[in-house]
Amino acid sequence: MDLDQLAALRTPEGSAALDAAARVAGGDPLAAAAALRSAGVPAGLAAAALTQAELRRRAVGKFGPAAAGMFLTRAGLEQATRNVVARRRADRLRAAGVGTLADLGCGLGADALAAARAGIRVYGVETDPVTAAMAAANAEAAGLADLFTVECGDATAFDVTRVDGVFCDPARRTAGTGRRIFDPNAYSPPWDFVVGLTQRVPYTVVKVAPGLDHALIPAGAEAEWVSVDGDLVEAALWCGRLAEIPRRATVLRGEATHALIGSGEVEAAVAPARRYVHDPDPAVIRAHLVAELADILDATLADPTIAYLYTDTPAATPFARCLEVTDVLPFSLKRLRALLRERRVGRVEILKRGSALEPERLRRDLKLAGDEAASLVLTRVAGAPTVLVGRPVG
Ligand SMILES: C[S@@+](CC[C@H](N)C(=O)[O-])C[C@H]1O[C@@H](n2cnc3c(N)ncnc32)[C@H](O)[C@@H]1O
Repeated sequence: MDLDQLAALRTPEGSAALDAAARVAGGDPLAAAAALRSAGVPAGLAAAALTQAELRRRAVGKFGPAAAGMFLTRAGLEQATRNVVARRRADRLRAAGVGTLADLGCGLGADALAAARAGIRVYGVETDPVTAAMAAANAEAAGLADLFTVECGDATAFDVTRVDGVFCDPARRTAGTGRRIFDPNAYSPPWDFVVGLTQRVPYTVVKVAPGLDHALIPAGAEAEWVSVDGDLVEAALWCGRLAEIPRRATVLRGEATHALIGSGEVEAAVAPARRYVHDPDPAVIRAHLVAELADILDATLADPTIAYLYTDTPAATPFARCLEVTDVLPFSLKRLRALLRERRVGRVEILKRGSALEPERLRRDLKLAGDEAASLVLTRVAGAPTVLVGRPVG
């Protein structure tokens, strides 16, 4: 997609082509292209409209019904924040008193649009001309063009004294190849600039990869890990006046939001394995809040290095999945196979932490047969390779 193709899609003819493409997208691509051409849509416009229609279909999971009116690139969509997360962030910024915000590297504008919807005046800066033009088109399509404006340029040159707060979600993929970047020094804008913002602007939020090394968290910042329906989606650094607590795990399930907070520095107590095992949400684990969760559940670890929590009674918590343990075995393929045969187990889910075993290989080696189902947890108990056999609770 280039700027001319985007401009063509925004004419009345382009808009009709997009409508026609939306009706045929999702099926056979050749038939869809033929349908548009037979409706008199020129080949170039038809191809651009079909690409948009396909991306909009994919974007529904992130943006909901608003995806139908958005302009998207594949790379921009992959990097965009899903609406449920962007909305929460925007509400928190607004509640903290941020009235004007710079979004430095705004991409297609998912975060900026959420902030504008929360009533914040957003100045987006985006280095890629097509992405910048699409972000502006998305603001217009959402009826937010007076609250979210975009300039195409280098975010590092933006005068941050113009705004109350800054949001930065640096690109963590290589332009062109789309490969993930793991070294923060290779982010764009670069990490030094991003960390510098946290010292210059009193309200700064930085979105980072959930695998972020804790050593990179700026002093005094709140680091938050966010999961959506059990999937870890991002981490955010809330800096300056926005920092409330050292570590936060935010667990979003359906419409509900659950927050676990703490220092991230406490260790949970260790004791023998017990009847119920709890598998903490990945946001809790990455935020180093397993000890805080243990405290709430009155739980203990069975190995100091492994984040499974054990209790005598099942605990209903949004922060962990609970399994009832029927057997605790030192790991032996032969013994496990015999036990599962005896119980007529034909289906297993396999969880693992602290084990080098490959679940799919183990599943094959177990040669399961029977009508029953079981959960297997491959782990270590007091340092020893162990398998827990059990079933989900609730
Ligand atoms: C991860 S994406 C932002 C996604 C956005 N938060 C969203 O949810 O839609 C990062 C964006 O920053 C842009 N970018 C990278 N370096 C930049 C720079 N120095 N100045 C302005 N934009 C930059 C990239 O082109 C990319 O579109």
